[in-house]
Amino acid sequence: MTPIIEIRDLAKVYASGTRALSGVTLDIRKGEILGLLGPNGAGKTTLISVLCGLVTPSSGQVLVGGHDIVRDYRKARSLIGLVPQEISVEPFETVMNTTRFSRGLFGKAADDAHLEGVLTSLSLWDKRDAKCNELSGGMKRRVLIAKALSHGPEILFLDEPTAGVDVSLRRGMWQVVADLKASGVTIILTTHYMAEAEEMADRIGVIDKGRLLLVEEKAKLMREFGRKRLTVELADPIAALPEVIAQCGATLEQGGSRLAYDYDTRADRTGIARLLAACAEAGVAVRDLSTVETSLEDVFLRLVEENA
Ligand SMILES: Nc1ncnc2c1ncn2[C@@H]1O[C@H](COP(=O)(O)OP(=O)(O)O)[C@@H](O)[C@H]1O
Ligand SMILES: [Mg+2]
Repeated sequence: MTPIIEIRDLAKVYASGTRALSGVTLDIRKGEILGLLGPNGAGKTTLISVLCGLVTPSSGQVLVGGHDIVRDYRKARSLIGLVPQEISVEPFETVMNTTRFSRGLFGKAADDAHLEGVLTSLSLWDKRDAKCNELSGGMKRRVLIAKALSHGPEILFLDEPTAGVDVSLRRGMWQVVADLKASGVTIILTTHYMAEAEEMADRIGVIDKGRLLLVEEKAKLMREFGRKRLTVELADPIAALPEVIAQCGATLEQGGSRLAYDYDTRADRTGIARLLAACAEAGVAVRDLSTVETSLEDVFLRLVEENA
């Protein structure tokens, strides 16, 4: 499939000398939700700003829908909606007018029917005549999304969409993003919340110190890393693993003094009860249990540590 965004060897050094991006190469697929995960200062906002044409790249190339973001700025930009990290709305303007104005900025003809659809999908249609400063924080953020969707973009960037948003509103935001994806919009969101990337993204990119450390299908990452290891310390070492324990998938370690058992944290049954029953059946006395998790969080932290 032809990617909707092609990023080749992108670098950005700010005038201050800060190197915010180095050698970023990435294809973004049409219709996917790509989660860009990284700590504060990683370069997430810079990357989004370059893709949206707000920050000039120092080197490298970006094509959006086949249009070069520097040479064909207008065509590239017309395909893009951006929901910025900082909330900024005209306080005394109504929701409807704010959205109309954003559409106008793209030189598009007025189309209140389109805007009604956008506001309805964001549960803001009832608030169309409310002034922005009368809205709650969660609603303001949805107004920002409405503005970003006002010109009917194919690609939507959400920069830390739920930073500082409480847990229930965060869930609401996740639903909004899922609905947008269902309507065919390609979504790139940045976050420093692991759970958010885990919840929403089809693919996850990890970015740190301006470098893209990994891009992978979320399902694959979760398969590989959403596992736990249970260690069973035995009261007395055993010479060989009784068949009934081996059948559970456990292995013998440390000269027979402990068992290791890997299991999937998201499986219906972890098999732990069965393993312990097998120990009892085989007359193997258990002294202690401990578990270690390898979650996406570990992968993320390890990558970031290795990059230190
Ligand atoms: N306009 C700017 N001028 C100079 N340095 C900047 C500017 N914007 C961001 N930076 C620096 O670039 C790096 C990446 O920042 P940013 O892209 O905002 O990261 P993130 O969004 O992942 O937190 C940081 O070191 C930040 O201080
Ligand atoms: Mg940022």
